[in-house]
Order: sequence, then C-alpha cells, then structure tokens
Amino acid sequence: MTRVRAIKGMHDALPEESARFRDFEERFRALVSRHGYGEVRTPVVEPTELFLRSIGEATDIVEKEMYSFVDKGDDALTLRPEGTASAVRAYLEHNVVGREPVSKWFYTGPMFRRERPAKGRYRQFHQAGCEVYGDAGPYLDAEMIDMVVGFVRDLGVSEVEVLVNSLGSGETRVRYRDALQAYFAPHAAALSEDSQRRLQTNPLRILDSKDPRDIALADAAPTILEHLSDDDRAHFDGLRETLDALGTPYRVDARLVRGLDYYTRTLFEVRGNTGGAQNALLGGGRYDGMIAELGGQPTPAIGFAMGIERMLLAMGATPAAATLDVVILTVSPTLRKDAVVLGQRLRAEGLRVESDLRGGSLKSQFRRADKLAPTFALILGEAELSRGAVGVKRLATSESFELPLEGLAAALRGVAAP
Ligand code: HAM
Repeated sequence: MTRVRAIKGMHDALPEESARFRDFEERFRALVSRHGYGEVRTPVVEPTELFLRSIGEATDIVEKEMYSFVDKGDDALTLRPEGTASAVRAYLEHNVVGREPVSKWFYTGPMFRRERPAKGRYRQFHQAGCEVYGDAGPYLDAEMIDMVVGFVRDLGVSEVEVLVNSLGSGETRVRYRDALQAYFAPHAAALSEDSQRRLQTNPLRILDSKDPRDIALADAAPTILEHLSDDDRAHFDGLRETLDALGTPYRVDARLVRGLDYYTRTLFEVRGNTGGAQNALLGGGRYDGMIAELGGQPTPAIGFAMGIERMLLAMGATPAAATLDVVILTVSPTLRKDAVVLGQRLRAEGLRVESDLRGGSLKSQFRRADKLAPTFALILGEAELSRGAVGVKRLATSESFELPLEGLAAALRGVAAP
C-alpha cells in the first residue's frame, strides 16, 4: 500500500531536532526578555486581504507563494507567509496604540510560502521575530540591529555579514521610483517578463530579481541613497552613528531592497554561513506606513524576523545536553515493579528518570542505557535493597558506588558534577 507522505518542503521534527529548536527558542526568549519584549501569539490563518494590503500585490510572496484558499464559508483565507502583518492587525484590533506609547512584541512560529524547496528554504518554516510600535528611530533601529548581531555571534555563527540600507520615505520613494522607471525604460525589452510587468507597478522589485536578465541592469541602476531627502538622510546618518558608537559591524549596501513592499527608511539583513546558498539568517526594517495603510493612526514601526531552520544550520551541531538524569536497571526481572516505584519517587523529587522495564541481562540493559545517555545508571539488586541501598554508576567515567535509598535524589544531585 502506498504511504501518505508529508507535503514537499514541510518537515517533521523528531525529538532530537525538536530539542535543538526548543533550545534556540529559549535563548531567543531570554534575549528579547532582557530587552523588554512581550510575546504576541496570532492565528496561523488570516484573511487574504491582510497580506495583499501589507506585503504588496506586486511581490513574489503575494503573486506566487501564498497558500491561499476559500473555506467552506466562502471566506478568502491565507496561511500566514510572515508575522509582521498579523502583529499589526492584532495591534490595531486591540487598540493597543491608545494604551501605551511604545509596544515591544516578539513571536515565534510557523510561516508558509510556496517556494522551491532547497537546503534552508522550505514551504513551512519557522521564524522568531520582534516588532516595535511607536518609536520613530533611528536609535531604536541601531539598538535592534545590535541586539540581533550580538545574538547571532553568541550562537557561534561564522561568516556573519550585516547589511544596512535606507529606503527613504514618502517623497524620496516617489522620486526614486521615477528615477528607476526612467533608467529601466530604454532597456525594458531585455528585462525578464516579471520585471517588465513590474516596471510600471513596482520598479523597486526589479532590484530584488534573481533572474540573470535583470541582474546586470539592476546592478548599474541608480541607488536610493543618492535620492534621500534631508530628513531621510538625517535618519540614516543617525542610525550609522549609533551603530558606530555601539561598535556593531555593518556594511552599507545601497542595493539591498528585500522582498516586501512595506519597508521605509531603515532596512537590514544579517547573513551567515548556513552551508548552502540560503545565507540570509534574518531580515528586517522600518515600516512606518503600514499601520495607517491598515486603517490605524500613523504610527512608526520597525521589526525583524529570523529563520529558525537557517539559524540552526548556521550554528552547526551543538552537543546535545544530557536529557536524562537517571536510568534504573534491575538485576532480576522480579525487581521491575520496584524500578517503577523508585522511578515515580525520583521524578516527584524533580529528577528526569527512565526505568528499563524490558528486562533481559544486565549487559543488554546497560547497552540500552548507554544509548539514552543519562548521567547515572541505578542498579537495583536484592542484596543492596535489603541494606536499603542501590548501586550507582556514573556513565561518563564508569565510576561505581552505592547510595542509600533514603534521600537518594538529593544525594544524586550532590554527586552529579564529576
Ligand atoms: P523575510 O526576509 O521574508 O522577512 O524573512 C525573514 C527570514 O525568514 C529570512 O531571513 C529567512 O531566514 C527566513 N525565511 C524566509 N523564507 C524562508 C523559507 N522559505 N524557508 C526558510 N526560511 C525562510 C520577513 O518575513 C519580515 N516579516 C521580517 C520583518 C519583521 N520585517 C519587519 N518586521
């Protein structure tokens, strides 16, 4: 019989990989809580319109990658391709702007994009991200970039590259759009079909194209930095001066645009060695227009999201911490009931315990215990039990000794560090 398989580009995480995910998320949570962020949890499914109005209709995500469907009540829904739009929807829906001057939110969870699967590029992937509402920057922008760069470095990622750019705002964007159209128009026939179409709707997207027909032309295009208004220039200078004061390394990349339409002013991306072509670990930027665009009062906003799978690839294999303190073995099958009871008692005192209840020779029990890699094996034998004691073996060193059953959990903790 044929088996049902997972959807291409969507993955199961078995316990070992889940442990790495959880460890990563714990470190992320510890980081953002040091900066005062609170968690927001939003639904995985949203009205399709939310993403059309925020991410932009002429982006790859909206044009090609969304998992959109009509449900049985005829509502147009989409599995979220990213977290920023949902967070803003929640921010508006709960009228948070009226309640606090600055809101700092973080989230982790699955996102969905129908991209071509590759190492580091999946159709269901996970992001850890932050969004801040109500602070116009540029000091916060620098603080956020410094926070993520420090995090990536602390995780031991190699070949870290930090790119920053400004996309300007309002009038700068209009002037730049005109400049791009004027530059590309004479070459329109040489552009890819996507870019020919976007020349009218959204010429900035041509700069982000991966099509070889567009790349050389895009490389020689005028840059936005040449078009910044005085205010946008002052914001960008403020960002750079603050990054310099923080000692955060970065490179200005005037060609960085990123694949979402909502960005204004500060834009950033951090890359690292993931052992593959997908080296963008995280990206973010300011989106000062989105809240008004979605019906709220104008409120500045900035955020970022990191791809958890890519971060795990870039971190490489980290040695798994022991997940078990104790495995209980029995010298004879009749002691298996005592092993279950001892397990219950030790767990109640907070130890992580497994009892080997399959029986068999002590040798085969030890073989199984080695695979579980606990700190200690406890060996229950009649002789020791009659003395109110249990045999203990520290698996890392093979050192063996006996401990009284009375106060066993505390005694094990006492000798746990070799
Ligand atoms: P993004 O650049 O589209 O930005 O995604 C952020 C990160 O998610 C990427 O740098 C990458 O690590 C990961 N990622 C994206 N697509 C995939 C995929 N198909 N497979 C695996 N990992 C992927 C955003 O999503 C914005 N919402 C970031 C943001 C927050 N901007 C402001 N606030």
